[in-house]
Amino acid sequence: MSDASGDWKTVWITGASTGIGYALAQQISAPNMTVAVSARSKDKLAELESQSDGFVAYPVDVSDAKAVADSVDNIEQRHGPIDLAVLNAGTWSMISARDFDLETIRRGFEVNYMGVMNALHAVLPGMLARKKGHIAITASVAGYRGLPGAIAYSPTKAALINLAEILHAELSPQGITISLVNPGFVDTPMTQDNPFPMPQIITSKQAATRMLEGLKKQKFEINFPYRFTLMMKLLRILPDTVFFWLMRRLTGKK
Ligand SMILES: NC(=O)c1ccc[n+]([C@@H]2O[C@H](COP(=O)([O-])OP(=O)(O)OC[C@H]3O[C@@H](n4cnc5c(N)ncnc54)[C@H](OP(=O)(O)O)[C@@H]3O)[C@@H](O)[C@H]2O)c1
Repeated sequence: MSDASGDWKTVWITGASTGIGYALAQQISAPNMTVAVSARSKDKLAELESQSDGFVAYPVDVSDAKAVADSVDNIEQRHGPIDLAVLNAGTWSMISARDFDLETIRRGFEVNYMGVMNALHAVLPGMLARKKGHIAITASVAGYRGLPGAIAYSPTKAALINLAEILHAELSPQGITISLVNPGFVDTPMTQDNPFPMPQIITSKQAATRMLEGLKKQKFEINFPYRFTLMMKLLRILPDTVFFWLMRRLTGKK
């Protein structure tokens, strides 16, 4: 299969200050390529910048539509059109419907879903005009079905999976490649305090390697690790009664 990375002169990664985005920035970086890295933590982005001239920091809160549009403008004016946008910034809070917290739920959507929308709003017109570009959206296997304890997260990722399907159907004929990244458990600051077992957890470097392989091949869905994500995918086709029985067992509520 062909390797698309030769076409990437300007890459933009959100959520690049830690975890998967940080590891991806390091692995994707190549001579004659600018990797524009975004997140809120200026200090961590500056540390990344200090590693190579290829990294340029564009600190931004992805939930701020105007700031995202300004960042994309600045990136494209300084470095040229964005060839690959990896919309990866995300936030996770473990809360259940019994401890309903509207602010946390709203924030989950503002960052995970509207953060991607804000970025699309900024990058899409240029890509459509050029009939060229690649957009990758990091969702999660937690979006395959509604998972207990994930009321502020699972629905945001389900929405992203649905969104990526729409974008693929509509934008592929326009020359724009869409990738949907669905990781299983990855050892990053996001998962460090999780109080539950995380089967088949992989490192952020392993996750970035799998992600980069999929991006180079211009795959639609990039999911890893394979066995765990396949098992999660099977939850989609389980009858509801079996799925809910399984969830009760997993959460100890038989
Ligand atoms: N780790 C897993 O097991 C796992 C599994 C499935 C999917 N994912 C997804 O993978 C993506 C990366 O997560 P990760 O595991 O690498 O976690 P992470 O290390 O916590 O990284 C999250 C990144 O998003 C950035 N971010 C958070 N809120 C932001 C905001 N409002 N504006 C801009 N940037 C923001 C963070 O930087 P700042 O705090 O500096 O802003 C950080 O760079 C997320 O979308 C996550 O949902 C992770």
